[in-house]
Amino acid sequence: MSTAQLPDYAHELIRGRRATRAFRPDPVPEDTLREVFALASAAPSNSNTQPWHVEVVSGAVRDRLSEDLLAAHASNHLSLDFPYDHDMYAGPLAERRREAGEAMYGALGIGRDEHGKREAFNAESLRFYGAPHVALLFMPPNAEERMAADVGMYGQTLLLSLAAHGIASCPQGLLSFYADTIRASLGIENRKILFGVSFGYADTTAPVNSVAVPRAALHETTRFHS
Ligand SMILES: Cc1cc2nc3c(=O)[nH]c(=O)nc-3n(C[C@H](O)[C@H](O)[C@H](O)COP(=O)(O)O)c2cc1C
Repeated sequence: MSTAQLPDYAHELIRGRRATRAFRPDPVPEDTLREVFALASAAPSNSNTQPWHVEVVSGAVRDRLSEDLLAAHASNHLSLDFPYDHDMYAGPLAERRREAGEAMYGALGIGRDEHGKREAFNAESLRFYGAPHVALLFMPPNAEERMAADVGMYGQTLLLSLAAHGIASCPQGLLSFYADTIRASLGIENRKILFGVSFGYADTTAPVNSVAVPRAALHETTRFHS
């Protein structure tokens, strides 16, 4: 079957999912939440081990978590389970990262040198961009790259499950920069956090949600052997 023959919903689901960075405050009904996460659990994993552990946070707990994150941010209290160094993005990866940043800040009307405004928008991400829910994706204490691959699979399956239910989302690696704060706020002992996913109904009037970042040409990322 060629892509043109694929059912419209496959295109809509895969291409229609976008990182959403402004949400309406109305919560997703509890029954729908359970359906979304039950469907996401169909994600594949090495030997079907399903090493993810997901904390879905809403309501007053969500508000308190956001306050704790903002306090950690204000006191520059960073704690990462996995090191981050943006120099790992070299060559074309660095260029794509730069383009994505420009597209997002461009839609927000924030210039390259407006560091204060960029910083304020970063802090907004610790309010989950206004989303009423956030899912935090944890792994076992001994987790390394192979389990991270499984949790990445789960993450995308979750984003598609949300999209299929008409729910917008933003995966947020930045949340994992505050691992100790999140564990303390939610009473989690020793699991490692890989990333979080803020989700809810999109604010379709927000200019930032009109950002559509391009993808590399197929030949740049994929070789076919035969
Ligand atoms: C693992 C992961 C971490 C991400 N972390 C962040 C983040 O911290 N903040 C943010 O605003 N977007 C974050 N994003 C969203 C990406 O910027 C976005 O997916 C990418 O630019 C492609 O855009 P699209 O999702 O709209 O297709 C993250 C995405 C992934 C998959």
